[in-house]
Amino acid sequence: MKVLNTALANTLLLLSLLPVSLAVKAGDFKTCQQSGFCRRGRALAARARESADTWRSPYSIDPSTLTLSPEQASFTAGVRSLLYPDIKFGLDVRVHDDGVVRVRMDEVDGLKKRYDEAARWALVSEPSVSREIKWTIGKTDARAAYGKGIELVVEFSPLRVVLRRNGKDQVVVNGRGLMHMEHFREKVEAKAVEGSEEGSDEQTVMQVNNNRVWFEGDEEDALWEETFGSWTDSKPKGPESLSLDIDFPNHGHVYGIPQHATSLSLPTTTGENSFFNDPYRLYNADVFEYVASATTSLYGSIPLMHAHSADSTVGIFHVVGSETWIDVAHPTEKSTDTQWISESGILDLFILPGPTPADVFAQYARLTGTAPLPPHWSLAYHQCRWNYVSTDDVRGVQKRFDEEDMPVDVFWLDIEYAEDHKYFMWDQKGFPDPVDMVNDVAAVGRKMVVIVDPHLKRADNYPVYKKAQELDVLVKQKNGNEYEGWCWSGSSAWVDFFNPKSWDYWAALFKFVKGPEWSWTESTEDVYIWNDMNEPSVFNGPEITMPKDNIHHGGWEHRDIHNINGMILPNVTSRGLVERGEVPKRPFVLTRSFFAGSQRYGAMWTGDNLGTWDHMAVGVKMVLANSIAGMAFSGSDVGGFFGNPEPEMLVRWYHVGAFAPFFRAHAHLDTKRREPYLLEDPYKSIVRDILRLRYSMLPIWYTAFRETSVTGLPILRPHYVAFPSDPTGFAIDDQYYIGSSGLLVKPVTRPGVTEETVYLPENQVYYDYFSHRVHRGAAKGKTVTVPAALHQVPLLIRGGSILPTRERPRRASSLMKNDPFTLRVALDNKLSARGELYLDDGVTYSHREGQIVWREFTAQKASKGKGVRVGSRDLAKANITTAVEGAALSIYDEKNAFAKGLDGVRVEKIVVVGLSGKPSSVVVEGGASLQWEFTAGISGEGKKEGAASVLTIKDPGVGVANDWSIVINI
Ligand code: NOJ
Repeated sequence: MKVLNTALANTLLLLSLLPVSLAVKAGDFKTCQQSGFCRRGRALAARARESADTWRSPYSIDPSTLTLSPEQASFTAGVRSLLYPDIKFGLDVRVHDDGVVRVRMDEVDGLKKRYDEAARWALVSEPSVSREIKWTIGKTDARAAYGKGIELVVEFSPLRVVLRRNGKDQVVVNGRGLMHMEHFREKVEAKAVEGSEEGSDEQTVMQVNNNRVWFEGDEEDALWEETFGSWTDSKPKGPESLSLDIDFPNHGHVYGIPQHATSLSLPTTTGENSFFNDPYRLYNADVFEYVASATTSLYGSIPLMHAHSADSTVGIFHVVGSETWIDVAHPTEKSTDTQWISESGILDLFILPGPTPADVFAQYARLTGTAPLPPHWSLAYHQCRWNYVSTDDVRGVQKRFDEEDMPVDVFWLDIEYAEDHKYFMWDQKGFPDPVDMVNDVAAVGRKMVVIVDPHLKRADNYPVYKKAQELDVLVKQKNGNEYEGWCWSGSSAWVDFFNPKSWDYWAALFKFVKGPEWSWTESTEDVYIWNDMNEPSVFNGPEITMPKDNIHHGGWEHRDIHNINGMILPNVTSRGLVERGEVPKRPFVLTRSFFAGSQRYGAMWTGDNLGTWDHMAVGVKMVLANSIAGMAFSGSDVGGFFGNPEPEMLVRWYHVGAFAPFFRAHAHLDTKRREPYLLEDPYKSIVRDILRLRYSMLPIWYTAFRETSVTGLPILRPHYVAFPSDPTGFAIDDQYYIGSSGLLVKPVTRPGVTEETVYLPENQVYYDYFSHRVHRGAAKGKTVTVPAALHQVPLLIRGGSILPTRERPRRASSLMKNDPFTLRVALDNKLSARGELYLDDGVTYSHREGQIVWREFTAQKASKGKGVRVGSRDLAKANITTAVEGAALSIYDEKNAFAKGLDGVRVEKIVVVGLSGKPSSVVVEGGASLQWEFTAGISGEGKKEGAASVLTIKDPGVGVANDWSIVINI
């Protein structure tokens, strides 16, 4: 089906030009050496290293200015730099209720104002300051002791902040004296100073007079202007960068600061034998064909780092929206040094004291919020491609999925649906009947997701653009004129979402009934949104983005807010989706660019990966890194965006996708069609089974989402999160647990594999999900070998887990809502197990009113003999306690119409794995004897290898939403 619409023709033309204009990959983006402030920051570190004996931070607190708040819970103080005695800095130190420390420093009465609004976008609310903390102000420091053995020490001269626990340094800020806040200054021609000894006061003073100090190096380096390629950054404010050393003397692993294509435990970037040469860069960028192992920045940035050791996890969250580079070194195996170099902004540092990963997640969630419960259908399978070219094409794809009995929930439309890439305007050639198309898809309970990019074609016949112009909400050049750049739609302008005036205008676009004249009436409530290119991507801009001296609302330069820019589009888009209908429904918005807090607005994906094994493997690690930084709802393009993966690779990629929170296949315009029904057998059947496996596990995924939405615990849990005190697991990032379910998965990401090894961190029994074969871990950890032929994904159930699934194949997830459940009870070494199931209507916000089913399933040894009792009880009543403050809570509703509506939904099968012997009878407590089958095997307690015993209780006659108890007598 080929309908060549105008937009598609334009895209093809544009793509044919790309090799000339865009194909340079590495050279399109700066290295640290090519970035003035990064160079200055690293040079500072080098000088400090070279003169380690004498190097001393010039910053100190003037104790006479220290002022405690009335409740004494926080203090402010003046800070001076020895080198610039006339420049004033203000420090603010506070401790929150949960022990998180916030350290802020800004220039006071400077020539200009530093950008100080990053936290406003990242934080979910202003955290409350603890009233329990009492500072002790001494001659040389201020101290506060609190919590379990925590001591916070702020040393005055030089300024140094240390968080200790039980006498052990956890986080040290400015311990190496690399803190430097470049103050605003007038441009003065520098004069060389001769005849004075380096570092001496005499030299300092003389050089200050000439606007130079030894601390800042001998040469002025890119303070007032900088060129890169054909680009000149005019830097009207001059230098204003911020360098900061943050060390973890007792933590050998650091994780986080997504997004980078690298391992989860961050490799070193500096120091002896460092793995990478460049620091990790955070500068949201549309990187064409990114490298699968690099520190280069990608589409999103979250300045959150975890530092971890066997007895402690701490976090650092430096809320800065400008370009930032982070060096990582391990001076010893058990310690980590980092240096954070940002181009602009204030110092706004949160120290998350842990001490466990779970604590750090809760602390971060209290600051930036949690990922809300998404619509249930969005956890199912998404079929995307650039592009389905017409409404009939979409119908045809849907038909083929149905003919091949392959479940799918969502069809996606990329940019070619839009006339001349004017988003919201259907191209009549291919899409003459869009609403009918959506209704055809929705008829079987499916949805559509349509792309809306932030670049607006500068065309008079484009109401969305004209309205933005009229409202004066477009980004400006430094001279105040509308900024014009080049993107898919040709000459384009960008909405400045920092301007609050843009919010109502944008949200109103989605009102398909009763909206303003510029709203999108040719849409329905089954249409959801994909926000792409929001770094923003500007094809003819420096580093494929906007010039840093562009101006946003409030007069801030683009340089100040670049990394935040991408998050507001999905924020306002999701608001529009919630507000568009009569009854508010949960939004679904996929974003490419993100910042800390973006988890509040929807899902993200890892952008334009390549169809290679390396990209498949690193994608798993990237999704883990995003997961631990709050972005619970994440995934990678299944199949790889670029290239034509061979069937083996495509199959493996479906396994990777099926075990990621966001599961979408996508492909570039130039690739061959690769919808799974096009595969030959056996590949086709294997992918069908994978899709069905994902659908059967939707109850597990949804239950995991509930947990993350109220606790901030990630859905995908790497080993250091699940087993924080087992050092063998600290660098493992190719296998992970799914929520609290007890599932451990290791997707295969190499060709030709028939077996795979899995690391088991504990003395516990694990069962193969499919064969129930027993694998035993050991107290000190053990690696076991599991089958991993093409149709097999290494998937183990940790003994002690109960998994709810729905095993009837359906075309779409909405058709499963009255389907019965299967419970898999995987007994642990002590013959007990536990699991949860969470359900609600999956669409509205009625779950916040108590319209939920939330069950706990347990199994434990019966009081007599070797029997086991399996039961189900309501968790909804006693639920509230697990939530972090600020997360949307469910209230308890006695009547609960939703639960009543599920009265007829049965548990159709209970599979108990690992019993120690054959049952003599199985009875519902207070009720009938049940039908069952038993296959003997080795028990969970035994020492042998082999298949576990499996008891299958057929149709136990119990409701999924009811209390019950079943006794297995042995
Ligand atoms: C870039 C996105 O990353 C990709 O997924 C999309 O297909 C193209 N833009 C076209 O919209």
